[in-house]
Amino acid sequence: MPTPPERRPAPPTTHTTLRRLWTRLPRMGGRGVLKATTEALRSCLVHVAHLSLQDFRSYPAAEVALEPGVTAFVGPNGQGKTNLVEAIGYVASHGSHRAATDAPLVRHGAPRAIVRAGLVKDDRKALIELEINPGKANRARLNRSPVPRPREILGMLRTVLFAPEDLSLVKGDPGERRRFMDELLTARAPRFAGVRSDYDRVLKQRNALLKSAAAHRRSPGPEVLATLDVWDSHLARTGSELLAARLELVEALRPLAVRAYATLAPGGDAADLHYKSSLGDGELSTDRGKLADQLLAALGESRKQELDRGVSLVGPHRDELVLRLGEFPARGYASHGESWSFALGLRLAAFDLLRADGDDPVLILDDVFAELDTGRRSRLAETVAAAEQVLITAAVPADVPAELTGASYTVSDGQIVRD
Ligand SMILES: Nc1ncnc2c1ncn2[C@@H]1O[C@H](COP(=O)(O)OP(=O)(O)OP(=O)(O)O)[C@@H](O)[C@H]1O
Ligand SMILES: [Mg+2]
Repeated sequence: MPTPPERRPAPPTTHTTLRRLWTRLPRMGGRGVLKATTEALRSCLVHVAHLSLQDFRSYPAAEVALEPGVTAFVGPNGQGKTNLVEAIGYVASHGSHRAATDAPLVRHGAPRAIVRAGLVKDDRKALIELEINPGKANRARLNRSPVPRPREILGMLRTVLFAPEDLSLVKGDPGERRRFMDELLTARAPRFAGVRSDYDRVLKQRNALLKSAAAHRRSPGPEVLATLDVWDSHLARTGSELLAARLELVEALRPLAVRAYATLAPGGDAADLHYKSSLGDGELSTDRGKLADQLLAALGESRKQELDRGVSLVGPHRDELVLRLGEFPARGYASHGESWSFALGLRLAAFDLLRADGDDPVLILDDVFAELDTGRRSRLAETVAAAEQVLITAAVPADVPAELTGASYTVSDGQIVRD
């Protein structure tokens, strides 16, 4: 029988501790200071100045120097454009937008991959180094010193990445939208990586207990029920924290997403979104204590059903971010173009939200423009042009809107050559 976990201290990384981490880094001398001064407008923003890969995806080795502003990576299909921006996304989130595990990120036949990113913020710089060891613990170094847990540097770089896979944000299962919310929560406050993994652990253990009780097909004894009570309180505690954070997030995100969609697709049906909780359709407060009580009560009510079915039926893992276009749910009704614009609107809203928190995230647009008609293309280009750093991939130069002038690289056969 699984035993309840010890209560662990909250993971230390918050936005404030990250700021402190940046402050502790040494100041750059000479040219760095000059550059920071001449870029006064962008001066409190983070950008990636350098990316170095070793055995990451198709690259045995790669080096790219980057600047603030727009950078386009252009080249035929399958040449490694997405691999580059995926690596930058990995530095920000310690995960890939297109692989559920780390194994596909390591070049075929190599034991590990290394991603190094040089970041610049104000007149400080940071060198982040991540060693990806599939099946084993990954390792991280900050300015060449080992970091005890990679999670501690999560959030030093923040990215918003929009890619063709994002269509599943609108068309896919609720789990896709829950992941979107939780990743955004983590980007805003990295300690949510800990909250999320605590919740997942509690859920897994609780489900194991329910499953074994259901398998015995007789009334569970007092010992099982007592253990379940303990798991209920753990689920209510961590679940209420996740639920409250998601409710606050959706409230902040909603007006931004509505506006972003209206900008991208003017004249169409209005977009809207709301959070649908397994606690029912009533209005929920964001008071953690109240939510924990409500979760406990709902778990009590569904206990018999949970014991019959052997799964947890109440909690944020059952919740949904409902997207609507006009009168209809977007999922199942929206056209391909509408779904694409809605997904893009959600990413732009995420970008606006992170930007409102403080530092501009790096915006990554992977193969986005080819899918858009000319009107949407130029509206998107206008929207993103002001971002601190925008990285774009495209198969042909014509897919990069003329409004987005900046550096351009040709990616072909594993070579990344500045045009
Ligand atoms: N772990 C790996 N080891 C070796 N090669 C890999 C690995 N993962 C992916 N690749 C190769 O990387 C290439 C895909 O690169 P990528 O997705 O960056 O292409 P792209 O330039 O973005 O293409 P497109 O324009 O079609 O999106 C494929 O040829 C694939 O086989
Ligand atoms: Mg690609």
